[in-house]
Amino acid sequence: MPGMVSRILVPVTILGAVALPNARAAQATNITTDLYADSWEGWGVSLAWWAKAFGDRDDLADVVFTRNSTYWEPGNQTLPGLGLNIVRYNAGACSWNTINGSVTMSASPNIPATKQIEGYWLDGLSTDPRSSSWNWTVDASQRAMMLKAQDRGANIFELFSNSPMWWQLNNHNPSGADDGGSNLPSQLGVTFDSIEPFNEPSSNWWKASGTQEGCYIGASAQKSIVPILYEQMKTRNLDKTIISASDENSYQLALSSWNTIGRSIQEANIGRMNTHGYSGSSGPRDDLQTLARGVGQKVWDSEYGDNDESGDTMTKNIILDLRILKPDAWVQWQILDGSGWGLISADISSGTLNGATHKYYELAHFTRHIRPGMQLLETNSTNVVAAIDQSSHTLVIVAANWDGQETFEFDLSAFSKIPGDGTKIRGWKTDRVGDSLYSSFGNIAVQNERISTSFENGTIQTLEIDGVYL
Ligand SMILES: *[C@@H]1O[C@H](CO)[C@@H](O)[C@H](O)[C@H]1NC(C)=O
Ligand SMILES: *[C@@H]1O[C@H](CO)[C@@H](O)[C@H](O)[C@H]1NC(C)=O
Ligand SMILES: *[C@@H]1O[C@H](CO)[C@@H](O)[C@H](O)[C@H]1NC(C)=O
Ligand SMILES: *[C@@H]1O[C@H](CO)[C@@H](O)[C@H](O)[C@H]1NC(C)=O
Ligand SMILES: *[C@@H]1O[C@H](CO)[C@@H](O)[C@H](O)[C@H]1NC(C)=O
Ligand SMILES: *[C@@H]1O[C@H](CO)[C@@H](O)[C@H](O)[C@H]1NC(C)=O
Ligand SMILES: *[C@@H]1O[C@H](CO)[C@@H](O)[C@H](O)[C@H]1NC(C)=O
Repeated sequence: MPGMVSRILVPVTILGAVALPNARAAQATNITTDLYADSWEGWGVSLAWWAKAFGDRDDLADVVFTRNSTYWEPGNQTLPGLGLNIVRYNAGACSWNTINGSVTMSASPNIPATKQIEGYWLDGLSTDPRSSSWNWTVDASQRAMMLKAQDRGANIFELFSNSPMWWQLNNHNPSGADDGGSNLPSQLGVTFDSIEPFNEPSSNWWKASGTQEGCYIGASAQKSIVPILYEQMKTRNLDKTIISASDENSYQLALSSWNTIGRSIQEANIGRMNTHGYSGSSGPRDDLQTLARGVGQKVWDSEYGDNDESGDTMTKNIILDLRILKPDAWVQWQILDGSGWGLISADISSGTLNGATHKYYELAHFTRHIRPGMQLLETNSTNVVAAIDQSSHTLVIVAANWDGQETFEFDLSAFSKIPGDGTKIRGWKTDRVGDSLYSSFGNIAVQNERISTSFENGTIQTLEIDGVYL
């Protein structure tokens, strides 16, 4: 640790902060004016299973779907709302009715009730959604959270299926089988922008003894199902709703299934490449980006999760995604979960809610600032992402330090117009120990077309600069 004396001797390069001696020299980051092709669609979350358990909580809806400061009683803390605007609603596969006098669902002995999502189509006897073959009052809790999200400004909705209804399956068990497809009508009060018929379909862990709904659907079966679903959607005039696929578990599997389904079906029938992000820092993010854009598809990291409660793993992977996969949106799997997986710590099975994790605050650095409609910009640092709002002329920089640099310097000279020397900027930071949890600061300013900010190792910072023109 450098002592006080040497601190005083060091020239001050940052307003209101002191550069340390022997600090790793700031490697300047060029915030370029090179825009990504599409504007940012947003940040989201899947509703199963947390919303089935806690879908009636307004405070939770405020925390997740607004950017208001919200008191979260289970953690006795006031949280900066995440402001997510994308909702993935899980069409369930379970029902407890009897079909043809004797046929009932066969449930895995290992699936907890909290992961059994009720489906709307009870028996397959009629495709008319107004007939008694359908029950539109099931799954009230997940639906309630979806409507709360919509009330709070969520504007993009995806319907996804983990498994077909149990009665469509050979063994009548929605934890493991083989087949596909699902539709939903409009009386929910929500228009789905996309339908994802598969969930990690090429993975081999969907077994009758499983702990959640799931269904193996190999890539060649996906290739047969997608055009059928596409035709069904056209028949039902769902022409504003796209198909997204294949929600494979990893980037590698996403690439493999994309290729098996093939370029022509991808181009004709699938509006967006959805991939899960469970391969962490590895996998062919760049190939996926190139393939999808080549046929005009959007790209989502439609499901991300990891068990590192610190948020470091997530932050590294978000930055990798934004820099290389270049998705249009990024979607967290669960808000509430235990063992480091949740943004808010909870045990859904026992109904226990606790406080927000460090990961929660790290995610807030992205979701609250890189907003729908902004455009991402290339930078030349693996630690830094940037975005610009071309109507308000606000530049957003999110940077994370995990390699021990003690200052970060951002070079804004590529922009045609930036604020003059001394103009203060807005900053927020979360440090590793948790002394700062999304704490704001305002003591740094533009100098010589640059911004310098002191940066402890393990810290994430977000900066906002107004008056920036491409
Ligand atoms: C990024 O660009 C800046 C100039 O804006 C330069 O000083 C720095 O060396 C570059 N960094 C890398 C890793 O290329
Ligand atoms: C920074 O990026 C811009 C493109 O936006 C480029 O023209 C410029 O040369 C880069 N500056 C440096 C110092 O690399
Ligand atoms: C909370 O956020 C919503 C928008 O998401 C807004 O309409 C509402 O006014 C905010 N409420 C408060 C108390 O700030
Ligand atoms: C909640 O936190 C405040 C300090 O922020 C403290 O004064 C209060 O005792 C806490 N309440 C409970 C129930 O822990
Ligand atoms: C429809 O679902 C609701 C909620 O689960 C249930 O109370 C009702 O009995 C169901 N109706 C039929 C006809 O199964
Ligand atoms: C119920 O009976 C009808 C008519 O025989 C049949 O088509 C259908 O497959 C049966 N459903 C189930 C789930 O066994
Ligand atoms: C910075 O933190 C990372 C862990 O995130 C650690 O691996 C690295 O050694 C640290 N670097 C320095 C210079 O302290």
